[in-house]
Amino acid sequence: MLGKSVISLDDLSIPQITDLLHKAQYIDAHRREVAHACDGRVLATLFYEPSTRTRLSFETAMLRLGGKVIGFAGAQLASVTKGESIADTLKTVSNYVDVVAIRHPKEGAALVASRAASVPVINAGDGGHMHPTQTLADLATLQSRFGRVTDLTVGLCGDLMFGRTVHSLIETLCRFGNVRFVLISPDELKTPQYVLDRIDATPSCSYVEVKDLVSVIGDLDVLYMTRVQKERFFNEDDYLRLRDTYILDEDKLALAKEHMAVLHPLPRVNEIAVEVDDDPRAAYFEQVKNGMLMRMALESTVMGDELPGYEPFENK
Ligand code: CP
Repeated sequence: MLGKSVISLDDLSIPQITDLLHKAQYIDAHRREVAHACDGRVLATLFYEPSTRTRLSFETAMLRLGGKVIGFAGAQLASVTKGESIADTLKTVSNYVDVVAIRHPKEGAALVASRAASVPVINAGDGGHMHPTQTLADLATLQSRFGRVTDLTVGLCGDLMFGRTVHSLIETLCRFGNVRFVLISPDELKTPQYVLDRIDATPSCSYVEVKDLVSVIGDLDVLYMTRVQKERFFNEDDYLRLRDTYILDEDKLALAKEHMAVLHPLPRVNEIAVEVDDDPRAAYFEQVKNGMLMRMALESTVMGDELPGYEPFENK
């Protein structure tokens, strides 16, 4: 994976993703040992869209590996306001850094960036398209909760149309196989056809589309809640009408399996009541920690920096 850009998790093989999962576990258990693995390296975070977790965890990941960070959060502070293209920005920044994480509101922007850059580019979210490092955090959370990422019934609930984390997760779980998807959304926010086609093309996976969370919650091993993506709506009235369609609270959780895991990429608005945070099934702040660990694993890997004492999973 040395020098590789990661625009979608399709850019990585299943053994490579599996190795990243194991590397993240190793990092968590050996924080002191890896604290200088990326000494002398520099990460650029180019965030043309708001972020709390993704940008800060990319940056913390590099700092915890001994590297440094430059970048901008908000394109209004960069020369894009003077009309500079993404390609020119990446050709410029490639001279300064060893790896770039980019978030942009337009689908395909990260791919354009990777083609212009001479260093690895990691997609930190491109419009409603993909969010591969969130999927790495999601997979790590499933692995830690269930000891596997397959043979699960996974409910995805809320904005399945614009939620890029949903699209990335479904596509990647299909590659692992043996997943039953329960797609819970209002008609206006159903899963895009290209994502459904991916499930249809995977013989070991299946899906049902439903509107009602309560009637299916008892069947689920995983409930992946999502926020209605206000910033991708053209019409404020539609957003206001749909935003509170699903609210997970303790009453609904009482109908779920004892060991169901509740995931959410965050930020949440109203879709999970705060009372749920204290339930052992709430896994969304574990996801946050896993996001940082997986980004540490990914950054060090694409730069070719070895972690002292780490033995690649394929060698075990
Ligand atoms: N999950 C996620 O992408 O969060 P941020 O928008 O805060 O980065």
